[in-house]
Amino acid sequence: MTKPSTLPTTPALQSRLPKVGTTIFTVMSALAQQTGAVNLGQGFPDFDCDPALQGQVGAAMAEGLNQYPPMAGVMPLRQAQSDKVARLYGRRYDPETEVTVTAGATQAILTAVLACVGPGDEVILLEPCYDSYAPNIALAGGTVVRVPLTPGSFRPDFVRIAAALSSRTRLLVINSPHNPCATVWTRGEMQQLADLLAPTQVLLISDEVYEHMVFDGQAHVSAACIPALAARAFVVSSFGKTYHVTGWKVGTVMAPAPLSAEFRKVHQYNVFTVNTPMQHGLARYMADPTPYLQLAAFYQRKRDLFAQGLASTRLRPLHTQGSYFQLVEYSAVSDLPEADFCQWLTREVGVAAIPVAAFYEGGFDQRLARLCFAKRDETLQAALQRLRQL
Ligand SMILES: Cc1ncc(COP(=O)(O)O)c(C=O)c1O
Repeated sequence: MTKPSTLPTTPALQSRLPKVGTTIFTVMSALAQQTGAVNLGQGFPDFDCDPALQGQVGAAMAEGLNQYPPMAGVMPLRQAQSDKVARLYGRRYDPETEVTVTAGATQAILTAVLACVGPGDEVILLEPCYDSYAPNIALAGGTVVRVPLTPGSFRPDFVRIAAALSSRTRLLVINSPHNPCATVWTRGEMQQLADLLAPTQVLLISDEVYEHMVFDGQAHVSAACIPALAARAFVVSSFGKTYHVTGWKVGTVMAPAPLSAEFRKVHQYNVFTVNTPMQHGLARYMADPTPYLQLAAFYQRKRDLFAQGLASTRLRPLHTQGSYFQLVEYSAVSDLPEADFCQWLTREVGVAAIPVAAFYEGGFDQRLARLCFAKRDETLQAALQRLRQL
């Protein structure tokens, strides 16, 4: 046998996502862990879910519900989701053809993008926005067209959205309640979007993962509530956010049957299915609407506790309408750019935060940091104690 003359080498790979590195969330969480900082960076609860939900999942496992479920998800969960959305938002999605269970919202959004975007297509993103959208569009071969939300208020700017629409626009992505800005679209804004898109063939992804965290008596206006939007929309939701189980990665996509059919073509060769016992457990737990109906009050109390505490610091809290995020403006404390400020805050003050600039392509710097208040009261108090030293 002849010996190979050189060591085996790994073939060079042309990156599909050359601009992507480790996400800011991973970086800041690692830094928080290294430095012992209170981690208000990454958006996840530091408390556990309802033991009753764990019990339902355990029961499903014990009953032997451990093999492949149907590709679109187990029927009890699709039915429960359809019933909930019909009750809350007034649109009945057919669980057979219009509701698909996904591995969280992240997979739902990627799959929807892959299902409808191809080379040459343009996709409008409203910046700042969740970090997975743009790489998803790049993977599909589409072109991202960025339209800023109005700086300061972060409301949608319909004049600029209208100007960004072209004959190549295939898709628009919206997110309400919003990460990171904590704004909530009004019914008027949703209707304005519907009117703007009415003469077009543009599809919509409506990322509604924080749908049950809308405060001050306001209602979440789902794309499902506006018939002209629902007709062109993939409505994305996440059980992880609603039930304090972000690590379970289970969500749903609801869309009219023709859109769902295309979605499922991609889904079946992407993940094919999502874990069975979690789906059954969630379906059984959803029989009681109390947990999701009480979620807004649960988080509103934490929002108020945290915002009131921040009022005695030199950070300026912006108003949170929805989601579990709090933006703070820090120009009274530092003139560092956002990324440097958040590193400094983590290392020197002991509170991890996320720079809002990370949600913009060009890194637009507004001296804003995002803090997550989905934390135990003790965690929020510990963070506030440190922030008072600023
Ligand atoms: C706006 C937004 N969309 C989607 C997701 C992803 O949700 P999931 O954990 O269900 O994949 C997140 C998670 O932080 C988010 O903030």
